[in-house]
Amino acid sequence: MNPSKSVVIAIDGPSGAGKSTVARLVARRLDYLFLDTGAMYRAVTFALIRHGISSEDAGVARFLQRLRLHFSPDGERIFLQIDNDPEEDVSAEIRTKNVTDRVSEVAALASVRAKLTTEQRAIAEGRPVVAEGRDTATVVFPDASRKFFLTASLEARVKRRQAERPELANRPVAEVAADIQRRDEKDSRRALAPLRPAESSIQIDTTELQTAQVVERILSYL
Ligand code: DC
Repeated sequence: MNPSKSVVIAIDGPSGAGKSTVARLVARRLDYLFLDTGAMYRAVTFALIRHGISSEDAGVARFLQRLRLHFSPDGERIFLQIDNDPEEDVSAEIRTKNVTDRVSEVAALASVRAKLTTEQRAIAEGRPVVAEGRDTATVVFPDASRKFFLTASLEARVKRRQAERPELANRPVAEVAADIQRRDEKDSRRALAPLRPAESSIQIDTTELQTAQVVERILSYL
């Protein structure tokens, strides 16, 4: 397909920079679809774990052909289907620590990236989207109408993660910080579609900003 035909606002950045919250609100304001690309990587990771397939397994590509993903119309829930099994809402399961710990290695696989990139473009062909992830501005939608790269200090990102995820609230700050850093490093160093700002991305440091301020700043550029 020709990605330039899609209307896309692309928001990338490291974990905890506020992408999901901001992207969701911007999408709501514009009546665009909220496209959480990380949820797709998480759902594939969940499916591989459940089927006992490691990321080094030669069977990953074959397994991916049996797997289908789709979002609820508001983009908030993600459904997984393997073969002709009943479709399953895995929106909660994909947020568990087990999936979070493994998702970066799965997201580094060429077969996984190829499948999900194609699906993300197909979703954006249907209606305008606010896409958030790591490579939405660089690889998936290089012709996006507007590109943003959100950053924040590690301390702020840890605080946000702990506020968002009750299961992280009681874990030591140093542990949560180490997990975030490990994942960011893997996502930034991989050969394929690494986390980085696109040349034309507008960078916003959200450390000292409230969510509403980030949303307003993004809308002001549109
Ligand atoms: O945004 P998140 O934490 O839900 O993303 C989970 C993982 O998925 C993240 O560590 C890297 C991967 N990911 C990716 O490689 N490319 C994207 N566009 C989105 C997420």
